[in-house]
Amino acid sequence: MKILLLLWMFLSAFIVRAEGTVRSGAVWPDNRGQHINAHGGGILYHDGRYYWFGEHKSAETTAALVGITCYSSENLTDWRYEGVALPVTDTAGDELERGCIMERPKVVYNASTRKFVLWFHLEFKGQGYGAARYGVAVSDHPTGPYRFLRSGRVNAGVQPLNMKGSMADLDTLDVWENAEWWTPQWRRAVEDGLFMRRDFDGGQMARDQTVFVDTDGRAYHIYSSEENLTLQIAELSPDYTAHTGRYIRVAPGGQNEAPTVFRHGDTYWMVTSGCTGWAPNRARLFSAPSIWGPWRQHDNPCRGKDADTTFGGQGTYILSTPKGHIFMADIWRPKQPDDSRYIWLPITFEDGLPVIQWRDEWSF
Ligand code: GAL
Repeated sequence: MKILLLLWMFLSAFIVRAEGTVRSGAVWPDNRGQHINAHGGGILYHDGRYYWFGEHKSAETTAALVGITCYSSENLTDWRYEGVALPVTDTAGDELERGCIMERPKVVYNASTRKFVLWFHLEFKGQGYGAARYGVAVSDHPTGPYRFLRSGRVNAGVQPLNMKGSMADLDTLDVWENAEWWTPQWRRAVEDGLFMRRDFDGGQMARDQTVFVDTDGRAYHIYSSEENLTLQIAELSPDYTAHTGRYIRVAPGGQNEAPTVFRHGDTYWMVTSGCTGWAPNRARLFSAPSIWGPWRQHDNPCRGKDADTTFGGQGTYILSTPKGHIFMADIWRPKQPDDSRYIWLPITFEDGLPVIQWRDEWSF
């Protein structure tokens, strides 16, 4: 009986491995048989292994009760739980105190310092989404433990590279600061930089975020800023742990969240979502000839079942592999956050534009 059981365990492991399929929306068990708990995640490829970092979600709350988790894999389908890469703390008043919000973690490897650098979106415990800060942590090992360096707003006291005119030109904008939202005049003020100017001294807001490393080794922090109304792209320092002060505003007033970025040939592509909280909406697609823009908007890249709601999900990362690019998204379940599901779909090209076609099942 025992032998039969062992034989079955061996065979079933083999079947799963041989299949190597991705079923978006399904429970995705790790090596312990538990659904992978790494939401809003991103993937690092290092020394022949993939490392998946994400938000640990509990059954009751979308706040962080555990921290940022890590899983590793050789084949992208079978994932081994590696533990908590950056835990919450039990110290009252600490920036990472249990109950804070840690979202959309992304890890990049810096070849010159040989450090792994983790960027995430941080909100302080009990303060909702008001802090709108980045968090950054480093480690000597991909799986951690990561040492929290600091949190902050972005590029205080610095103007974006693509701002029209000078800061003095924006001084009349404060008239609109307390004005009624969504009026045409208010929208124009937002496009002109109303909230960028408001946050100029203290630094720019940073909520939904990703990190992109270009082929020349330069890294960029891409985040929803200015009250989630405008995206910003900020260059990171050579060691990837700070901002250099060089940044641009993208799609001012366009209300983009969940930025995901990849490069294909000489074109930079970005897939984002609209701003409807945990509820899914239609994905947006942008392209640019340089990370510094100009960024141009295209139609929804999604095709097939539920393409108008990003298949019920919201993008979190685009993994580029030698075989192609993979779009990763989350199907959020805010009433049972730990049961949120994953969507992974290959990106194909049609008439020069990226297309994300729904597939019930596919393999690498
Ligand atoms: C989503 C965002 C998530 C989380 C959520 C909170 O739009 O992408 O990362 O912040 O809002 O409502």
